[in-house]
Amino acid sequence: MSKDTVTVTDNASGKSVELPIRTGTHGPATIDIQSVYKELGYFTYDPGFTSTASCRSDITFIDGDQGILLYRGYPIEQLAEKSSFLEVSYLLMYGDLPTPKELDAFTTNITNHTMVNESLKDFFDGFHYNAHPMAMLTAVVSSLSAFYHDSIDINDPDSRELCAHRIIAKMPTIAGAAFKHLVGEPFVYPQNRLSYPANLLNMLFSRPSEKYEINPVAEKALDQLLILHADHEQNASTSTVRLAGSTGTNPFAAIASGCAALWGPAHGGANEAVLRMLEEIGDVSNVPQYIAKAKDKDDPFRLMGFGHRVYKNYDPRATIIRETCHEVLDALNMANDPQLELAVRLEEIALQDDYFVERKLYPNVDFYSGLIYKALGIPTQFFTVLFALGRTPGWISQWMELVEDNEQRIGRPRQLYTGAAKRDYIPLDQR
Ligand code: CMC
Repeated sequence: MSKDTVTVTDNASGKSVELPIRTGTHGPATIDIQSVYKELGYFTYDPGFTSTASCRSDITFIDGDQGILLYRGYPIEQLAEKSSFLEVSYLLMYGDLPTPKELDAFTTNITNHTMVNESLKDFFDGFHYNAHPMAMLTAVVSSLSAFYHDSIDINDPDSRELCAHRIIAKMPTIAGAAFKHLVGEPFVYPQNRLSYPANLLNMLFSRPSEKYEINPVAEKALDQLLILHADHEQNASTSTVRLAGSTGTNPFAAIASGCAALWGPAHGGANEAVLRMLEEIGDVSNVPQYIAKAKDKDDPFRLMGFGHRVYKNYDPRATIIRETCHEVLDALNMANDPQLELAVRLEEIALQDDYFVERKLYPNVDFYSGLIYKALGIPTQFFTVLFALGRTPGWISQWMELVEDNEQRIGRPRQLYTGAAKRDYIPLDQR
């Protein structure tokens, strides 16, 4: 019997199946269960995919026990310190760091695609004045497929690449329009002379009535936040993009489905939920009461920004963001912000509490990101849009990988049916 297999024996029938073990570069080896149903007639049951690898991927690696995150092999700490969001986008898409010439060409390409069709802009007039920006983002990203027929042939590599450039380039413009709709100000067109984060800040905060100066602290912090959010292997929204993409749908539709999945408070919506939680807690003196609520199984309250499906150690992105948060608030003379003080105290208390220690619940990326966004003047409702913007190169790279992977088929999970057994219809007058 090969050492590279696992044998599963069905005690009821005595039948056995030898399952191959597949090994990757890092991380646990994977048992290939594809023949289990064919050979033994069983499905496997894994709600939440806690033990199931849904695909093979070369893009991102996470070691949740060690708190390690690598994009294409590069540690997140090095990329956050030394790289830029556009360089990281290139890395995720093409697999290697670009040469100066390649980065230049990529940046020019992205810059040339920042405009959106004028009629796409009109969509925003149809939204209610207080529409949630994630609702607008999801709808408008989906509508891109109605404008770019030339790039939705998913079987053509050039089309796929053009589509990837378009989505990375247009997300800030769409986000900017959603922001302006939210705050009731006129839409600001992209400025291609500005860096990616500076252009975004300009579309969010500049007004026709006054000169707007980009704050370099804000520009750097935003670029770093986008880098930290750029990919996170097979999380819920990325898996949604892949599942939608596996049907052969166009990438704009697939990414819109990723935006919808990201919105939930257990995922990207947590950054908004953290700020709302800090507002609700209100004062450091109330922290013990809220820690008790988070531990109470009869209370639905959870400490937002704490815990992670994969990280059972400090989220490495949270370590970087925590430091940046202090730097940004210092630079903006907001070091005494009461919500920062509250967040620090909450973290201290939770990290000493047996409940959180035993369950390995540490602050995640969303715990401090909201405080930075708030310091930059971004309304709470808008935080998840920035997460989506950062995640876009990851989503599109994962989609491209899926389309190019000849092992991928339409995603079609099975189920353990627990409903009524087959029964006959009873006419209405006999019930
Ligand atoms: N506050 C209190 N208890 C918690 C929390 C929390 N934030 N998170 C997990 N637990 C408890 C949970 O009740 C369970 O306890 P027990 O074993 O006694 O039943 C145990 O810890 C394991 O939790 P789980 O829900 O089985 O873990 P999961 O892997 O299914 O969920 C999670 C992961 C991130 C959804 C969850 O930790 C959570 O809801 N956190 C708050 C929301 C949040 O911050 N989400 C952002 C995630 S990071 C960014 C992203 O990926 O989008």
